[in-house]
Amino acid sequence: MDTKWIKTNEIRKADYDNALKEAAALIRRGELVAFPTETVYGLGGNAFDASAAEKIYDAKGRPSDNPLIVHISHIDMMDDLVLELTPVCRRLAFEFWPGPLTMILPKSDKIPAAITGGLDTVAVRMPGHGVALDFIDEVQLPIAAPSANLSGKPSPTEGEHVYHDLNGRVAMILDSGPVEIGIESTIIDLSRPEPVILRPGRITFDDIKPFVPRLRGRYAITAADRERPKAPGMKYKHYAPDGKMFYLPEGEKAVSAIREAKGKTALLLSNERWQTLKDEVSPDLLCVLGSAEHLEEIGHNLFHAFRECDKEKAEVIFIEAFPDSGFGEALMNRIEKATHKE
Ligand code: TXA
Ligand code: MG
Repeated sequence: MDTKWIKTNEIRKADYDNALKEAAALIRRGELVAFPTETVYGLGGNAFDASAAEKIYDAKGRPSDNPLIVHISHIDMMDDLVLELTPVCRRLAFEFWPGPLTMILPKSDKIPAAITGGLDTVAVRMPGHGVALDFIDEVQLPIAAPSANLSGKPSPTEGEHVYHDLNGRVAMILDSGPVEIGIESTIIDLSRPEPVILRPGRITFDDIKPFVPRLRGRYAITAADRERPKAPGMKYKHYAPDGKMFYLPEGEKAVSAIREAKGKTALLLSNERWQTLKDEVSPDLLCVLGSAEHLEEIGHNLFHAFRECDKEKAEVIFIEAFPDSGFGEALMNRIEKATHKE
């Protein structure tokens, strides 16, 4: 299959409108289109079409019981997706949509089981990105989309990453450059009496808590939850770089750890930390992720840096540990999953 790669920021309005029309026609025909969101790029197909789900799993090389997130551009689209638009869901939608929050609710019969991995719930979100909203508006259908990476690669934060992973496997890529956040959406499960956050993201526990009085504590995921494919990293192997990733030791110990590492060595850290090390060490690959004062900046650059490690065939990777409060919780969740486990 030829992949059409459209750079939405570099074309005129009329060409943009035409590209969206073409993208919508592809979706209605059962094809796949990759599109930007504010978190990461998505690999989209018609959420009412079971065979589109199969195509998505095929393209990604992902197990077909890992459920997909359904993307909407208008709250009215919820009526066809969920059994009931609960007051809590309404309230969260009002506060945070369009934005990086995914809500899980009991699903309607219109959503095929292939989309939800056989679960009786569906994950929905309204992305906060102009191109995503224009695209969904044009299709007039909810769009099922996982992150647009090959299984085993980090979520794509740039059109280039999507092209690298899915060229020849997707009909069209709508590329609007680097995304804003770079870490996947927060997922909250509202289908239980006591809602729980299954995946931390830019919208934090403290952001949500005031609107969900019965929200369970952040580490409330039970052993039973782990048996079901509820959220990334629970049942399926999460992304980890090809090389072994370790936390950068505190203080002076970092210098000897880096100097003694065997093989091609990469260093992923804040600018502040790099300033304390730069006269002492010379790693083969250096990724300064941003200022430690702005964890959003670190999150924005994280997945790109992971990809650089693989591209440069780094064998030993040291990454700084950041404070895990606020947005740091989402950041450290992704870093922790990528670190080497014996
Ligand atoms: O930011 C994001 O959420 C991006 C963009 C494209 O929207 N999407 C994304 O999709 O990260 P994905 O497929 O890589 O991760 C979504 C996760 C799945 O791994 C799945 O475990 C969980 O959401 N999920 C989806 N539906 C679910 C459901 N009904 N119950 C529990 N977990 C669900
Ligand atoms: Mg993913």
